[in-house]
Amino acid sequence: MDPLENPYSMGAGNPPPALTGRDEQERQYRLLLGRLLRGHSEPSMIVWGLRGVGKTVLLLEFQSIAVEQGWLAPDPIEVKSDTDFRAALAEHAYQALVQLDRRRGLGERLRPFGRLLRGFKAGVSEGGGMEFSFDADAVANAASGNLERDLIALFVELGQVARENETGVVFLIDEMQFLEPVEFEATAAALHQMAQRSLPIALVASGLPQLPGLMVEAKSYAERLFSYPRLDRLDDPSAREALERPAREANVAYADEALDRLLELSGNYPAFIQAYGKEVWNTAPQSPITLEDVDAAAPIVRGRLDGEFFHTRFEKATPGERRYMSAMADLGDGPQSTAAVAKRLGYASTSSGSVHRDSLIKKGLIYGPDHGLVDFTVPHFAAFMRRRYPVS
Ligand SMILES: Nc1ncnc2c1ncn2[C@@H]1O[C@H](COP(=O)(O)OP(=O)(O)OP(=O)(O)O)[C@@H](O)[C@H]1O
Ligand SMILES: [Mg+2]
Repeated sequence: MDPLENPYSMGAGNPPPALTGRDEQERQYRLLLGRLLRGHSEPSMIVWGLRGVGKTVLLLEFQSIAVEQGWLAPDPIEVKSDTDFRAALAEHAYQALVQLDRRRGLGERLRPFGRLLRGFKAGVSEGGGMEFSFDADAVANAASGNLERDLIALFVELGQVARENETGVVFLIDEMQFLEPVEFEATAAALHQMAQRSLPIALVASGLPQLPGLMVEAKSYAERLFSYPRLDRLDDPSAREALERPAREANVAYADEALDRLLELSGNYPAFIQAYGKEVWNTAPQSPITLEDVDAAAPIVRGRLDGEFFHTRFEKATPGERRYMSAMADLGDGPQSTAAVAKRLGYASTSSGSVHRDSLIKKGLIYGPDHGLVDFTVPHFAAFMRRRYPVS
């Protein structure tokens, strides 16, 4: 069918034509915003899950819900291994102030932020209008012990000005597992203050499965500061809906067996659902889409996923780390014991493999689901490794 009319959306962070199966997370999020605005406390949210389950697009959905509810919600911060988190937070706070200033004309009320944001290398000009500039080196060199203090001061002031104006600010943070321990500590401490003062600042973050552990390791009270909902693959009805609804809107239908096969091939993982949906649409000559259409498209999708989705991840690893992943995959799907991986590699002891394990975790390619276990953060990655890079 006509690729011009293809509704499916492939690629990281691209919102799907139908975002399905996330009602529970959205309900919880709306409750959070609603309660904070009424001066009640409610834990912020840390959403975690594997690659391609829809973390980024959920944060974007959260941003539009916040805006719809009158909250101040600047674009999500995407943390990378080299992100200047101080600067990113200051930029976020600044964007929130600009939005509020446009709405309410803050005037003199902006003045305290000059002093506060200067700690983050930003400034407010005397005239009240804000200007903003960063000296990246100076920010990076700022004593790390100060981040916690500076962030608390900034959040308190921002929370107060939001409350005076009957609104709130939500900080949306993607790929949070890449933060440094001091940054986790500062974030938790600042949010702790918000809870104690009942100020309307929420922090909603997403990341890989190791994220909840990293947060609680930084500050044990973070266990109560956040709820930690897991984002998983879709259940069957939601997966069907994700495929059917966009098609239906274009007067295109699926044969039942075609949909069944699509669920089986994608494993109900959102990224794969979109990838298969897209290719099957282009392959099918007409509606309804049949099982034969799906089977004809499947090898093309598999090739594309291997070349793009999986290979871009694989390329982040060094040769030694790649061998470690090949050994993991060779042991099968799902979590594997680090001892078995080391043995498969012919190492004398488990600790010989720990350098690779640690760096693969840092790079976000694997995680430890439990003590002494490792698994891939990318769904279906073990099969990819066996197909393309078997143990040599
Ligand atoms: N609930 C959903 N229903 C249908 N499609 C979805 C859903 N969530 C995400 N998608 C689609 O899945 C793909 C992956 O989404 P997204 O990039 O948000 O995942 P992610 O968890 O952030 O992945 P990564 O860890 O690689 O950053 C996108 O094409 C998106 O449109
Ligand atoms: Mg993402």
